[in-house]
Amino acid sequence: MSKINWQKKIFVFLEKFFRKKDLLKKKKINAVVTTGPTKEYLDPVRFISNESSGKQGYEIALELSRLGIKTTLISGPTKLRYSHDIKVKEVVSGNDMLEAVKKKLPTHIAVCAAAVSDFKPLSIKKNKIKKDSKITEIKIEKNPDILGYLGKNNRYKPKLLVGFAAETEDLIKNSIKKMQEKFCDIIIANDVSNKKIGFNSDINEVTIIDKNGKTQKIKKNSKKFVASLIAKKIVDTFLLNEKSLN
Ligand code: CTP
Repeated sequence: MSKINWQKKIFVFLEKFFRKKDLLKKKKINAVVTTGPTKEYLDPVRFISNESSGKQGYEIALELSRLGIKTTLISGPTKLRYSHDIKVKEVVSGNDMLEAVKKKLPTHIAVCAAAVSDFKPLSIKKNKIKKDSKITEIKIEKNPDILGYLGKNNRYKPKLLVGFAAETEDLIKNSIKKMQEKFCDIIIANDVSNKKIGFNSDINEVTIIDKNGKTQKIKKNSKKFVASLIAKKIVDTFLLNEKSLN
């Protein structure tokens, strides 16, 4: 490609980028992104949790913000150092995360990337459970499903709802099922059987699936790069659905 053609391409790209960014800013489009694990305490020192680093959700939040969307990240306990470019609300448990999400409603866009613990102890003991106590079992109950809550919310359903699907088998089939069951517009299919990518790693490989059945595979790359393509899909779909904004 000639130099002139390259210059033209770069110009068109930048022009589009800033036009979209201005529009999203002017219309005050906002987003909520959940990320990280949750910790479900059993006593003051013991908890149920998982290996999620929170990185993929964090990078998506940064990218949405860079694209002109006022973004709040609601994060479970992670080791991330959050940028000052986004508003961050740190939470501990699944219940805390749900309450923090509710406080941000209504929102135009919601992205649920958190690995919310599916179960929590039925009760939290005030004091440390002693080794010689007669405990023989830990009773658990289900945590609230935040994505499910948003999808079924008649009053405050976000205009664009994005979920993740962490699967170890039948990736695409199970992800589509999850997207339908939780009333999402887009689902990010994540194969968590490969230990080298995804959970607790800086790289990821995902497939973006939208509710029209369109799929886009993003091959192994940094979570930052993966986030940039996910955010682009989110913005493009949002603007396509909300044509009246343009
Ligand atoms: N999710 C959520 N609240 C929960 C559980 C999951 O918001 N209590 C969201 C996740 O953030 C993700 C989607 O639901 O966007 C799917 O999560 P995943 O762990 O893949 O599936 P589950 O719904 O937990 O179902 P299962 O573990 O049976 O696959």
